[in-house]
Amino acid sequence: IRDSPTHVGQYIGDYIAKRINDFAPTAERPFVLGLPTGSSPIPTYKHLISLVKDGKLSFKHVVTFNMDEYVGLPRDHSESYHTFMFREFFSHIDIPPSQVHILDGNAPDLISECNSYEAKIKEYGGIELFLGGIGEDGHIAFNEPGSSLASRTRIKTLAYDTILANARFFGNDISAVPRMALTVGVATVLDSREVVVVVTGQRKALALSKAIEEGVNHLWTLSALQMHPWALIVVDEDATAEL
Ligand code: GLP
Repeated sequence: IRDSPTHVGQYIGDYIAKRINDFAPTAERPFVLGLPTGSSPIPTYKHLISLVKDGKLSFKHVVTFNMDEYVGLPRDHSESYHTFMFREFFSHIDIPPSQVHILDGNAPDLISECNSYEAKIKEYGGIELFLGGIGEDGHIAFNEPGSSLASRTRIKTLAYDTILANARFFGNDISAVPRMALTVGVATVLDSREVVVVVTGQRKALALSKAIEEGVNHLWTLSALQMHPWALIVVDEDATAEL
């Protein structure tokens, strides 16, 4: 628990930097990092960017896989997760764009897009560390309430609560929010060797308490992390309101 979202971001940024530096990645043996979107990870991204600018961290041998992407939103739309990731992170660090993987929500065959994403992760030997955020309904990536805990990368219809929560990014116009997304599954996240989740703000307090103080439950998909041998949730004071 840290006192503010900024300190949560600094903690996670330092944590990830240490893991990457200790791993000592090379071109033959890159560090495979899973990444989220949303406002919660922005302080983490800011801190990682400053570590790169200070020469304390490099993403030259880091390969990334993003958690999710909207279906049908043009890739260059200001709210696509592709645009978000380059605007908030990738454009400011030394990662070669060829090492960035983001699901294509406009692929002609969405099912094969999802399957080849899973295959690509396997080709790299799996994800070393998956950084995640959660929705107010406790979803991790876009694994909405009711998602199978054994789920893999797939198409997901967004819950109405998620559409409402994300309308703020679309000029508060609910009708402009995409109805579907591609997302890694709960099992895809559980497969990674380590999971770090950022949870900030009182809006997430109920989800946090459901996920860590109640049983493993597909209605609060973050709770699946109770089964993971190496999971870390970093939160601010506000997010602890229901604990
Ligand atoms: C979307 C993403 C999630 C993310 C969530 C939280 O729903 N698909 O991966 O965790 O937003 O967003 P925020 O951090 O802005 O609350």
